[in-house]
Amino acid sequence: METVIRKFEVLRFRPEQDPEPVFQTYEVPCLPDFVVLDALNAIKDDIDPTLSHRWSCRMGVCGSCGMLVNGRPVLTCNAFVRGYPGTIRVEPLSNFPIVRDLIVELDDFVRKIQSVKPWIIRKIEKDVADGTYLQSPEQLDEFKQYSMCINCALCYAACPVLANEPDFVGPAAIALAHRYNLDSRDEGNRERFDVLNAANGLWACSYANECSQVCPKHVDPAMAINQAKLTGALQWTGVLPKKSMT
Ligand code: FES
Repeated sequence: METVIRKFEVLRFRPEQDPEPVFQTYEVPCLPDFVVLDALNAIKDDIDPTLSHRWSCRMGVCGSCGMLVNGRPVLTCNAFVRGYPGTIRVEPLSNFPIVRDLIVELDDFVRKIQSVKPWIIRKIEKDVADGTYLQSPEQLDEFKQYSMCINCALCYAACPVLANEPDFVGPAAIALAHRYNLDSRDEGNRERFDVLNAANGLWACSYANECSQVCPKHVDPAMAINQAKLTGALQWTGVLPKKSMT
């Protein structure tokens, strides 16, 4: 198949030599079906082996290849080069410190995810011999959409609140908390309540909706935040109980 030369401006940051990030231009022979990740791999393999970027599955599942392409957070394995006319600018995700080139530091993002305890919490665990916790299709539908999150952090990078308030827990963590709060098997609502309703919790969201616009899995974190706000308000006023674990 014939290749076409496409120009890429890639943000480089090598802490041992760059006082601050700089753009480097590459001319990359691209096949018609190339995604941006293919072009980055071609740069690394054939043009400049010093370029650093993350990826793994190459099929929109692992969530590790997120970057800004022409200023927008995308999974680069899901972003066709032919969809971008002209020079393509690739940068690391915003709202994260850069470790090197296109690789960002995820520690704070992971810490915030962990803070909402995104796992099933039970007051009393059933014995394994007693079987699984059954759930109806209707109960599954309550939270299924929010369970599609792949922790790619695109929503986090797109969030304008996080750009100004780095301590905001962020859309991914809130959507995950909401996913477990809605799960009929879970009894951990009370344990998540204080994190969600803290000053840097869901009330810091100003509903820009950017998180839902960029989510590659259509999780709609903005809707989760609004639903969680309503639940939180009703619980705070006592209209709804703080489910279990009191
Ligand atoms: Fe896994 Fe892109 S490489 S989501």
